[in-house]
Amino acid sequence: MQEVQIGVLGLGTIGAELVYIIQSNAKRVENEYGIRLSIKKVFVRDLTKKRNVDVKGLTLTNRIEDILEDEEISVIAECIGGNGSGQTLDYVKQALQKGKTVIMSSKKTLALYGPELLWMAKENQVMIQYDATVGGGIPIAKILENCFYGERVKKVSGIVNATSNFICSKMLEEKQDYHTALAQAQACGYAENDPSDDVDGYDALYKAVILSMFCFEKYFDPRKVTPKSIRVIGLFDMQVASELGYSIKPIFSIEDQGESLQYHVGPCLVKADSILGKINDNHNIIIVNGELTRHLAFFGQGAGKEPTASAMFDDILNALICQRKPMSGEGPIPAFEQLDERYTQYYMHLAVPDTLGVMAAVTKVLSDTGLNIDKLVTKDKVNDFYDVVVFTSKAEGSRVEEQLTKALEEVGVRLVTLLPILSS
Ligand SMILES: NC(=O)c1ccc[n+]([C@@H]2O[C@H](COP(=O)([O-])OP(=O)(O)OC[C@H]3O[C@@H](n4cnc5c(N)ncnc54)[C@H](OP(=O)(O)O)[C@@H]3O)[C@@H](O)[C@H]2O)c1
Repeated sequence: MQEVQIGVLGLGTIGAELVYIIQSNAKRVENEYGIRLSIKKVFVRDLTKKRNVDVKGLTLTNRIEDILEDEEISVIAECIGGNGSGQTLDYVKQALQKGKTVIMSSKKTLALYGPELLWMAKENQVMIQYDATVGGGIPIAKILENCFYGERVKKVSGIVNATSNFICSKMLEEKQDYHTALAQAQACGYAENDPSDDVDGYDALYKAVILSMFCFEKYFDPRKVTPKSIRVIGLFDMQVASELGYSIKPIFSIEDQGESLQYHVGPCLVKADSILGKINDNHNIIIVNGELTRHLAFFGQGAGKEPTASAMFDDILNALICQRKPMSGEGPIPAFEQLDERYTQYYMHLAVPDTLGVMAAVTKVLSDTGLNIDKLVTKDKVNDFYDVVVFTSKAEGSRVEEQLTKALEEVGVRLVTLLPILSS
């Protein structure tokens, strides 16, 4: 019988659920895998706080060294999170240096310091498992680690932020404006009081960085990329897109083009009848495109305490039972600098004044910016301005938004919304 003593860091939503799952599955793991799992100590800040799990029989400590310096503890489950640096990073580093396997929950820490942490794990011959950082219960990390030995992943994309997807779904299905949909997400427990990281795309960006690191062994620094926010989407955009056969979804996409990584993180139009167009509410989907396997899609609950803690529990067993594809290289993966954000089609909502010749001026601005008009629809007139919707094709080059906003302003037209359209 293999004895494994675990140190759990954090006993909040995820920590408490993980403790419960470990305790209630210990006998089964013993019988099926011959591994006796036990939680030796749990690190918290406040020893007096009421917990969502029975703490009888658990040793709680507010001294991190009680866990990190305990040689009998071989596995650390980090359920703290936080802002990516500071204590979580410090605890994870110390654990790796002391030869402990680390199961991570903090996506921000992994996205900001992944190469350094993976290298530390390699040097100390221990593992980092990270499935809870991306896609909740979707076992994407285990698929990437334990499959695809002979496959080259070319692209990874999907919807990985449950809060934004829930908000977009409510705007589309229940015709709620952004603020009402956000309030509903908060009432359902899908959005935090400060939802910025989720709605402004940073949460999805961190997950995209992690997926890029493990799909392509290409790391890019999230501080070099500004994701797009779903705050820009109006109810008008949602409805017009829907009338024309599209859904607006919070999409991430990273494509390995050899010399460069082509990326998108933010809302965009997708065909309503495509896989991405059909993923609603708080669900996530991750689509992996391999050279040989082509499209593989993994769908499920993207957050929530049970899926997330279950991913961490599986990570513990995966670290103990499975072999793992080694990361290549003789040092930490260097940050990949060639980042490219490029689209071939756009949706735009323009506020056009009721003046003679203005549409000819708009057409000229678009053509000067390298955009062909695919579809142009004039909607209602509000306060002397027409709502005009344009679908374009053949966009070339980047910084289209900046150029367009300025050039349209010069002819008296306001660019209300500009969103890319993804063809696949
Ligand atoms: N909640 C979800 O649905 C979800 C989904 C996916 C991923 N995650 C990830 O899971 C992790 C934990 O999330 P959670 O929702 O369980 O958080 P939480 O409820 O706020 O719990 C955090 C725990 O960490 C402890 N802690 C120790 N040192 C800390 C420090 N310096 N700063 C903050 N907390 C400290 C806290 O102790 P005290 O209790 O004594 O204050 C608390 O028990 C995060 O990485 C999060 O991104 C959560």
